[in-house]
Amino acid sequence: MKLRTLDGIDLRGKYVLLRDDFNVQIVDGKITEGFRIERSMPTIDLLRNAGARVAICSHLGRPKGTKDMKYSLRGVAEYMKLPLIDDCLDKSFMANMHDGDVVLLENVRFYAGEEENDPVFAEKLAAGFDLFVNDAFAVSHRAHASTVGVTKFLPSYAGLLLQSEIENITRVMEKPARPVLSIVAGSKVSTKIGVLRALIKLSDTIIVGGALGTTFNYALGAPVGNSLFEADQKENALAIMEYARENNCRFLVPLDKGVGPVFEPDAPRTDKDIADILPDDVIIDGGPKTAARDVDEIGRAATVIWNGTVGMAEWMPTWSYGSFAIARAIAEKTRAGALHSIVGGGDTVAALDACGVMDDITYVSTGGGAFLEFIEGRELPGISVLVVRD
Ligand code: 3PG
Repeated sequence: MKLRTLDGIDLRGKYVLLRDDFNVQIVDGKITEGFRIERSMPTIDLLRNAGARVAICSHLGRPKGTKDMKYSLRGVAEYMKLPLIDDCLDKSFMANMHDGDVVLLENVRFYAGEEENDPVFAEKLAAGFDLFVNDAFAVSHRAHASTVGVTKFLPSYAGLLLQSEIENITRVMEKPARPVLSIVAGSKVSTKIGVLRALIKLSDTIIVGGALGTTFNYALGAPVGNSLFEADQKENALAIMEYARENNCRFLVPLDKGVGPVFEPDAPRTDKDIADILPDDVIIDGGPKTAARDVDEIGRAATVIWNGTVGMAEWMPTWSYGSFAIARAIAEKTRAGALHSIVGGGDTVAALDACGVMDDITYVSTGGGAFLEFIEGRELPGISVLVVRD
């Protein structure tokens, strides 16, 4: 895939509309982790140093076309020390800009036209700019005005983060070092059927975990107590395991679980083999036997692809056990130069961060849904519009 890039483009004095994904977690107006922002900096610096006049647009959360200040990007603007333009369609700031200046536009999703990809809204958003740069890989699976619509009105290019995401994920999907282990967890089978199938094709071994893994245990007839899982996905789960058999991919389900009496962060933990789970037990994490098995599998792999935590990793330390065991094992082997690791998904990346191992992973994607759709081989609309067609 050849993308239009900024190579050789004269940017001095040009008004650039830059799409970033600053959909970050904000608690009490403060950003709790700035991973997506840090990863956006190379393109911002490139534009700034080249003398462009840059307005960054982003969404935050899902305000559904209303100006709900809970979703204001003010906290991001303060974190980045950038002026915030209160309305993304207000162009009056442009007259006061100098070469190298950067501003942040308020949440584009304050307008319904953004998610509707309304051409009238897209044209207004693009007005006054000379070119558009998309660096928001994480939202490129959405055909919105600020990812797709504006490209009808402005010459459009891929930013450095977008390029890096595509290169790194494509490399592992096309030429992975073998054996390949994929760890797919999180809450739902129903949202990951496509990606599971794609990863079965690619991998020598798949581990499933989390509530998603519990659905596979259930499909195999195991007791799952009073836990989160998808009873209606039984047939899909069985079909996925059959697909793994057909493709010679080992498919490993959880062996034991950390359970509590209620689904609460401070619930007391007991570890039980799957077969011993009682009707009132609530599964909140993977158990120690599963964690040891996972670590062992990581030890045998040359490539690991990981998406989804195997328990409530944010309920530390009681319920982060399974996810942290995986994070540490991947990090240690990658640090030793013996593993190519790629991790994506908001919760999974937060678990890496909480373990302090972000820098020990070969590639950490900023994408959640976009990461999964890209792996699945789907066309991402925000990327398709930047492809150079022969
Ligand atoms: C994400 O966090 O995955 C992206 O910012 C997309 O957000 P959305 O699912 O609300 O479109």
